[in-house]
Amino acid sequence: MANLWDSRFERGMDAIVEEFNASINFDKRLYNCDIDGSVAHVTMLSEAGIVTGDEKNAIVTGLEGIRRDIANGSLTFTVRQEDIHMAVEETLISRIGAVGKKLHTARSRNDQAQVDVRLYFMRETGAILDALAELQKVILEKASENTENLLAGFTHMQHAQPVTVGFHLMAYFQMFRRDVERLTDTRRRANQNPLGAGALGGTTFNINRHRTSELLGFDVPTENAMDAVSDRDYIIEFLSDASISMMHISRFAEEFVYWNSSEFRYISIDDSFCTGSSMMPQKKNPDIAELLRGKVGRVYGDLMGLLTVMKGTPLSFNKDFQEDKEPMFDAMDTWKASLTILAAMINKTEFRLDEINKHLASGFLSATDMADSLVRQGIPFRESHEIVGKMVKLCERNSCDFTDLKREELVSIDKRFDSLSLPDLSMRGCVNARTSFGGTAPSEVKRQIETGKNWLSSVVKAM
Ligand code: ARG
Repeated sequence: MANLWDSRFERGMDAIVEEFNASINFDKRLYNCDIDGSVAHVTMLSEAGIVTGDEKNAIVTGLEGIRRDIANGSLTFTVRQEDIHMAVEETLISRIGAVGKKLHTARSRNDQAQVDVRLYFMRETGAILDALAELQKVILEKASENTENLLAGFTHMQHAQPVTVGFHLMAYFQMFRRDVERLTDTRRRANQNPLGAGALGGTTFNINRHRTSELLGFDVPTENAMDAVSDRDYIIEFLSDASISMMHISRFAEEFVYWNSSEFRYISIDDSFCTGSSMMPQKKNPDIAELLRGKVGRVYGDLMGLLTVMKGTPLSFNKDFQEDKEPMFDAMDTWKASLTILAAMINKTEFRLDEINKHLASGFLSATDMADSLVRQGIPFRESHEIVGKMVKLCERNSCDFTDLKREELVSIDKRFDSLSLPDLSMRGCVNARTSFGGTAPSEVKRQIETGKNWLSSVVKAM
C-alpha cells in the first residue's frame, strides 16, 4: 500500500516532503495508547451493531499481535507511514485483510490522535505525580532528621535570621505541594474523551461515546467535537505546571551548588552525583545539581513553543497541531527525571553541622531578636531598630558581637541601657522563640511536617 488517500491524488510526496510531514519518529511512543483507543473503539462499534462480533474479535486479535511485535522490537515503521495511527492501521490491514479496513469507521485521525495523546497524558502525568510524591517523602524524612539543626537564614543572600535545616527544607515541600495541586487540577480538566469527535463535526453513525469513555477510563466525552479536535489547552496547562515546578527544582538545585562550594561547605554532594575535571585533578564538580538547575530552560522553551504554535490557528484541526507532541514529551521526560534525580540527591546528602555552625557566628543573625527584646522592655519597635543598628555599627568597628559590648558602650548608644537587660541571644534561643504559626521553632516545624505527612498520605491515596 502507498498512501490511504492515493485514489484522489495524481502524485505522491517527494521524499524530503514525506520526511518533513511525518511524525512517526516521535509519535511512535503513543503505540500502546493508539492500540488501547482502537480496541475500545471497535468494542463499542460491535456493541452498537456497526461491526459484527467476529469482525471485532479479528481486529482486536490483530491489534494485540501488533502491540506485542512493537514491544519486542520485531515491528518497526518508516516515515512513509507518516504517523503511528496510520502505521498501526496499515499493518493491521496487511495482516488480517479486508476486515481491518472496518476499524476506521466513525473515526478520524483527528480524534484518534487526540484520544491517544490524552490517554498518554493521563498515564504520564500520573507517573509524574508519583515522582512528586516520592520527592516530597524524601524531603519530609530529611526535614524530620533536621528539625533541631541550625542554619543561617538569608534574605538578599545576606545573613538574616537563624532558622533550622528542617524549616528550610519544608519551604520546598510547600512548593512541590502546590505543584501536585496544580497538576491534579490540570488532570481533572484533561480527563475527557475526544474519541468520536470525528474529523470535526461528529459522525453519522450511532456511536456511544459514553461507552468508549468508560472503556478508556475517561470521566466524560468531550462536549463539542470541533473543540475536541482543536483543543491543546490541557497540554499548555501541563507545560505551565512543568515550568513552575522545574523553576522550583532549579532553585533547590542552586542551593545544593552553593551549599557544596568551598566557601560554604554546608554539604558535600555524594560522589555519585558529581564529576571530575579533565584537566584539574583536584576537582569534584556538582554537575548533576547544575543540570537540574539548567533543565528548566528547555521546559520554558517547550511552553513558549506550543503557545506560539497555537496562536491564531483557526478552527478546527490544522496540521500545526502535530507540533504539540515533541514539547509535551520533552517536558514530561525532563520533569519526571529531574524529580527522581533530585529526590535521590537529597536522600544521599548529609548536612555538615560543624561547618554550618561556623557560619552562624557572623552576620548578626540575632539582631531582630535583640530589637524585639527592647520592645518587650517598653521601647517602640522603630526606636529599638535604630538602637540595634547603632549596636551593629559599633560591633563591626570593634570586630565583636552584641554580648561583648560593655554597659558604658551600650549606655553611650542609648541612656535607657542603664536599666535594660540583654536577652538570650544564642542562635538556639532565637530559633526556639519563633513559635508563631509557620515559624522556624522546632515545635512549629514538627507541626508543619505532621501536616505535610497527613496531606501527602491523603493525596497518595487519591492518586
Ligand atoms: N499526526 C497527526 C498529529 O499528530 C495526526 C492527525 C492528522 N490529521 C490530519 N487530518 N492530517 O496531529
